[in-house]
Amino acid sequence: MFHIPIVPRVRKRSRPAEAGVARCEEVKFEDVRLYLVERKMGSSRRSFLTQLARSKGFIVDDILSDVVTHVVSEDSEASSVWTWLKESVLKNLSNVQVLDISWFTDSMREGRPVAVETRHLIQDTLHPSPESSPPTAKATVSQYACQRRTTTENKNQIFTDAFEVLAESYEFNEIEGPCLAFRRAASVLKSLPSEVDCMGATQDLPCLGEHTKAVMEELLQCGHSFEVEKILSDERYQTLKLFTSVFGVGPKTAEKWYRRGLRSFSDILAEPSIHLNRMQESGFLHYGDISRSVSKAEARALGNVIDEVARAITPDAILALTGGFRRGKEFGHDVDFIVTTPEPGREKTLLSNIMDELKEQGILLYSDYQPSTFDISKLPSHRFEAMDHFAKCFLILRLEGSQVEGGLNSAEGDSRGWRAVRVDLVSPPMDRYAFALLGWTGSRQFERDLRRFARLERRMLLDNHALYDKTKKEFLAAATEKDIFAHLGLEYIEPWQRNA
Ligand code: UTP
Ligand code: MG
Repeated sequence: MFHIPIVPRVRKRSRPAEAGVARCEEVKFEDVRLYLVERKMGSSRRSFLTQLARSKGFIVDDILSDVVTHVVSEDSEASSVWTWLKESVLKNLSNVQVLDISWFTDSMREGRPVAVETRHLIQDTLHPSPESSPPTAKATVSQYACQRRTTTENKNQIFTDAFEVLAESYEFNEIEGPCLAFRRAASVLKSLPSEVDCMGATQDLPCLGEHTKAVMEELLQCGHSFEVEKILSDERYQTLKLFTSVFGVGPKTAEKWYRRGLRSFSDILAEPSIHLNRMQESGFLHYGDISRSVSKAEARALGNVIDEVARAITPDAILALTGGFRRGKEFGHDVDFIVTTPEPGREKTLLSNIMDELKEQGILLYSDYQPSTFDISKLPSHRFEAMDHFAKCFLILRLEGSQVEGGLNSAEGDSRGWRAVRVDLVSPPMDRYAFALLGWTGSRQFERDLRRFARLERRMLLDNHALYDKTKKEFLAAATEKDIFAHLGLEYIEPWQRNA
């Protein structure tokens, strides 16, 4: 665990040189700008904390201004902090989070800005403003995931794991309604700052139906759910779960194999009438590796490999990590990247160039390339399609252990020194970048609710390509994700708060 060393609050003259020391550090959190209040903190502690935060990729401004998003103070007297802020240069105090040092220390420990919780806030007790405080479980949990802040810290895993089994079982049976209902319920519980410990605590929560509540009640009373246990021990569920864990095998194929009496991988591989497609062949070939999760360090190493390849092809290549890793997950099932270039039209061929180079280097173990079918004149799309139209490729890459800080996430006793990893690359044109980034960052539930919110609350159509306003009959341009949230009239939700 990371601890902030205690720095004595010595009253010394400030050393201006220190303030800028860590300026060259890499910025990891562009959307967060801290300002540390010197009052009560003291200048030497302030400059130490500033350097610490900068070394972890945070932006810390020396001067208070309207671009600051998070003001951190060590003053225990809320009224004095607020009086000082109200007399400051800030034009609109509702744009800034006013936080005590616990938010800062939590963020340093996690290595990222943690979600603001009530306990972090320095409340303006004189003139409380409802919109400046985060949602409390009771009154303000929205039915839309895009209006909730959900970090990777799930306090209600006992419930959400059970709901996921139920949702999956409905999915295998192609019963869509209850499947979605369980996923929505799980998503609501994931956003809560604390564990639900009695049914009373669910009273004001949205998206919890009778069935979900009955499962929760059982879990609270006896620690397990009879219905979930039954599913988990069901042979069909177990077999479909096993088969769909293979890359390239969806629920339909799994069901087909199950109906033919096949129950194990050896049954499938021994059955002469089964013809695996190329994807499934690779899925079985690399099963051990690609069914094991990918670590953050492995994702970073792959980022370096692809970045180098892309830049060798075109120096202005832009690479962005998306998917679960952008949301701060420690492990993922694959690594998702956007790779593109500002040169219009060039993105259409970039991925095939990258794949050629990966092949040349001997690290391309599998590739499925889907050329761009993006046609701006066909927008807006009124029906959401699971796949967007940008050029993309689904890959399996060979990752060398020597390239990974701290080594590979390998199986015990594996001495090969490399592993296979699933990687997805997508290449949108630059003017579609913000939409693609938002869409590929996920989570799936967050994306679903963004689209649902846009459609039902704003009469807008959102997908990975564009945002269309049906009332004004016009497309709304966006250069950043923030622009999209602003068009939708939504508070901006940071990527690591989208783990809905
Ligand atoms: P993933 O399936 O990789 O999920 O899709 P994840 O959140 O990274 O979690 P892991 O990998 O299981 O750890 C990433 C996001 O990309 C979107 C999905 O909707 C998801 O939100 N996506 C994927 C698209 O928008 N279009 C696609 O064609 C494929
Ligand atoms: Mg992913």
